[in-house]
Amino acid sequence: ADGDLKKGKKVFRKCAACHAVGEKAKNKVGPMLNGVVDRAWGEVADYKYSKPLLAGKEEGKVWDAATLDAYLTKPKDVIPKGKMAFAGLKKEDDRANVIAYLAQFNAD
Ligand code: HEM
Repeated sequence: ADGDLKKGKKVFRKCAACHAVGEKAKNKVGPMLNGVVDRAWGEVADYKYSKPLLAGKEEGKVWDAATLDAYLTKPKDVIPKGKMAFAGLKKEDDRANVIAYLAQFNAD
C-alpha cells in the first residue's frame, strides 16, 4: 500500500516519545529508526535490544513492510516478550503511512 508522507509524519508523533529519525537521530527509549525499513532486526549497534528481538535477528528476520505492519498492529504478537511498550496502531492506513514516512530515512 502506498503511504501518505504528511499523514505518516503526524502518526510518527506517537512513536517520537521513544524513537528518533533524521539527521543526528539518537537512541531514546527505543533505537533510532533511520534505515530500519527492509533492514535486519536489531542492527543499531549501540542499542540494547531485548533477548527475543535479538533471537529474531539470529533467525535472520527482517523489517520488511509486512513484518513492520504486523509489529505496529500489535507489537506483542510479533515479539511476545519484547520491550516495546506500545499498544499498536489499529488503523491500516496509519500503519502504511508511518511505514512510508520511515522509508524516507533509508536513502541518503
Ligand atoms: C523497537 C518502530 C513506538 C519503544 C522498535 C523497532 C521498530 C519500532 C521498527 C525495531 C527496531 C530495530 O530492530 O532496530 C516503532 C514505531 C512506533 C513505535 C513505528 C510508532 C508507531 C514506540 C513507543 C515506544 C517504543 C511509543 C516506547 C513507549 C521501543 C523499544 C524497542 C522498539 C523499547 C526495542 C524493542 C526490543 O528490544 O524488544 N520500534 N515504535 N516504540 N521500540 Fe518502537
